[in-house]
Amino acid sequence: MNKGGLGNRVGDLRQEIVGIDQPVPLLDGTSRPYVYLDNAASTPTFRGVQDKVNEFLTWYSSIHRGTGFKSLVASQAYDTAREIVAEFVGADPTNDVVVFGKNTTEAVNKLANRFSFQPDDMILATLMEHHSNDLPWRGRCRLEYVEVLADGSLDWEDYERKLIRWKGKIRLVTTTGAANVTGYLPPIYQMARFAHEHGALILVDAAQLAPHRRIQMGTPGSPDRLDFVALSAHKMYAPFGTGALIGPRAFFANGPPDTRGGGTIEIVSLEEVFWADPPDRDEAGSPNVVGAVALAASISILKRVGVEVLAEHETALTRYTLERMGQIPGLRIFGSSVPLCAQDRLGVIAFQLEGIPHAKVAAILGYEGGIGVRSGCFCAHPYVLRLLGTNPAEYERFKQRVLAHDRSTLPGLIRASFGCYNNIEDVDRLLDWLDRIRRGETRGEYELHVPSGAYRPRQFAANPTDYFSLR
Ligand code: ALA
Repeated sequence: MNKGGLGNRVGDLRQEIVGIDQPVPLLDGTSRPYVYLDNAASTPTFRGVQDKVNEFLTWYSSIHRGTGFKSLVASQAYDTAREIVAEFVGADPTNDVVVFGKNTTEAVNKLANRFSFQPDDMILATLMEHHSNDLPWRGRCRLEYVEVLADGSLDWEDYERKLIRWKGKIRLVTTTGAANVTGYLPPIYQMARFAHEHGALILVDAAQLAPHRRIQMGTPGSPDRLDFVALSAHKMYAPFGTGALIGPRAFFANGPPDTRGGGTIEIVSLEEVFWADPPDRDEAGSPNVVGAVALAASISILKRVGVEVLAEHETALTRYTLERMGQIPGLRIFGSSVPLCAQDRLGVIAFQLEGIPHAKVAAILGYEGGIGVRSGCFCAHPYVLRLLGTNPAEYERFKQRVLAHDRSTLPGLIRASFGCYNNIEDVDRLLDWLDRIRRGETRGEYELHVPSGAYRPRQFAANPTDYFSLR
């Protein structure tokens, strides 16, 4: 990757990040600008989002049922945020509705609660899902999973086989839009087409996908239309506690809401309740207006820069990382490791360093390198255990230990995940530290904390409350 090339086209975006290059304390007593590579979990905030939120707080007030000018301003902001989210995912304004909630997890739970499953119905998920698009579906009706191949990609033949075998029974296919462990991008539009041909609807959990690729829900009735999409603002540079579930208005107009309360009704007596039209029916209680404003502000920035431009930048960064990681002895990548195929995946790279526990690698990166990553199973236990080839007897041993509050032997991976603002210097710092760790050129004496499975260095002196305190 040319340092003077693509990196500069998104260079301005780096200045858009609140807290970029914030110095953090290191084990040796010095400090360095932080390198954050855990964007798959949560992204930092765009400055434009922070500014828009600050501007809006002047006008913040009760919405819809409030009277007075501030309520008019706040209500139109909330309604406009809905339109901006709908446009962002290519929803049909006459057919679809945006339901705001806390995050993707809440959105998927809402959809699961709002489906009225019959005893013979089935749900088809995939083995790539993070827990938020797996656990909400359990116990509703029969749930089957599409297999993954050794590189963590979808086993398309298994997908076809299962949809054909249970044609007419599978009510819903639910899939991630991008795997949070391997960065794999399933063919969601092809999956939608095949699901529809076999009588099923499709939900795309776009928590990972939305900040990195364009989404087009498409025209209702078209074969590759995405029926439902869920996303989270905290992975989209707007961490103010909002997410959205987008889907057909007619679906949400059917049946009572899963959460009941203020704002969800037309009229109520002691004897009867008339539910409000969507989306109000599904937004019980005072909505998170600030969160919606933040998400809309972030989307406006992403659109201004161009999601395609960001994707191009992240692809170049991913290609460079895969190339360089391939040269580090003992480093094993899980998922596609082919640099030339970087455009077919996200910059979410899971790996292990031979002979060194994943949690220890992550700890050294943090305490000595000033680099934030994530390690473990990334809230996707079935997928990670499958990638690792864990057999049932091994799983049983891990389970007994975890249930006895011992996570010291729990297997896992280290994950570096890029945001649109990361640059080649960030990657170089990561690679440099991985090489040092591999060579044993580290300073700390690390102790394993058995209940959490985390490693902590004995010598680390910095106190987090010296940096930020609420007291
Ligand atoms: N899905 C979130 C992650 O990947 C929790 O970190």
